[in-house]
Amino acid sequence: MSDPILELKDVAMHFPVSGFGRSKQVVHAMDQVSFSLQRGEILALVGESGSGKTTTAKVIAKLHQPTSGEIIFNGENIYQRKTNKRDLGYRKNVQMIFQDPFGALNPTHTIRSILERPFLIHKLASREQVEAKIKEVLVQVGLEPPEQFIDKFPHELSGGQLQRVNIARAISVDPILLLADEPTSMLDVSIRMIIMNMIKKFRDEEGISYLYITHNLAGARYIADRIAVMYAGMMMEIGPAEEVIQKAYHPYTKLLRSAAPQPEKGFQESELTAKGDIPSLVNPPTGCRFHTRCPQADAECKELIPELREIKPGHQVRCLKV
Ligand SMILES: Nc1ncnc2c1ncn2[C@@H]1O[C@H](COP(=O)(O)OP(=O)(O)OP(=O)(O)O)[C@@H](O)[C@H]1O
Ligand SMILES: [Mg+2]
Repeated sequence: MSDPILELKDVAMHFPVSGFGRSKQVVHAMDQVSFSLQRGEILALVGESGSGKTTTAKVIAKLHQPTSGEIIFNGENIYQRKTNKRDLGYRKNVQMIFQDPFGALNPTHTIRSILERPFLIHKLASREQVEAKIKEVLVQVGLEPPEQFIDKFPHELSGGQLQRVNIARAISVDPILLLADEPTSMLDVSIRMIIMNMIKKFRDEEGISYLYITHNLAGARYIADRIAVMYAGMMMEIGPAEEVIQKAYHPYTKLLRSAAPQPEKGFQESELTAKGDIPSLVNPPTGCRFHTRCPQADAECKELIPELREIKPGHQVRCLKV
């Protein structure tokens, strides 16, 4: 564990509260978020709705500039790079796959024109070469024969086929890191496993690293080397996937585990609807953010923000009681 491709150091992302008046209030979408991702590793990021997962992916993708903290990619602070305006090199190396396969694709463009753009923008193929390249990448994502798909429009394909096109677009530029934001949650259960296996295949064959965001603990366990658990903008537990699921040291991870009683049973819906609500991120709870829902919380937990502490090699937990 010594060759990180990505490191987040104490990253905070605070969004101004919209509305009238000059409110100084902010939404604490991320606070004190630190973790690293190794080359060729799949790290699953799990947590309930509103916990800050997408925001985490977006600050890494440079879609939001964080309020504070550092993001190091390939040894370089991405917000201090001296680059051209659009930072094409970074945008080639770090690709994002979104939840809604249809929404991510321009409905007026054919698959050909959707897939030729990245090749041309990043100068990875000439006009003459590009058709062959597109067909190659369609085959890589299992859309065969490619002639059957290349001149179709997005509405002529199924959700699963569209997500394959999104993956094709992302991998076509030989990325180093893929940020996959719930890439299977809008797909039929039957296709989810196929997409997850495809993601694993690109890790195994191309060495691509993934931040894989999911609501589904079973999916996280299946796909990931490590699991990171986020709650109300903070990382609560991070460690080897099997250990996080089996041991669930943090009371919040335990709660998630009990909301998804049999993650070993495959990929039925096990949405993370644990008891209680995520607290307001405008006025987050004092002390541990989870204390308002935690069965183990005492007076100390209301006062002190626990550190994310290593409890065994490679396994960190943010809890005063562990
Ligand atoms: N652009 C924005 N402006 C203001 N607030 C935002 C913005 N983006 C996200 N937020 C807020 O930040 C918090 C975290 O949102 P985020 O989308 O990261 O959660 P999530 O874990 O991805 O949730 P979900 O599982 O529903 O996708 C939420 O309170 C959300 O309302
Ligand atoms: Mg999200």
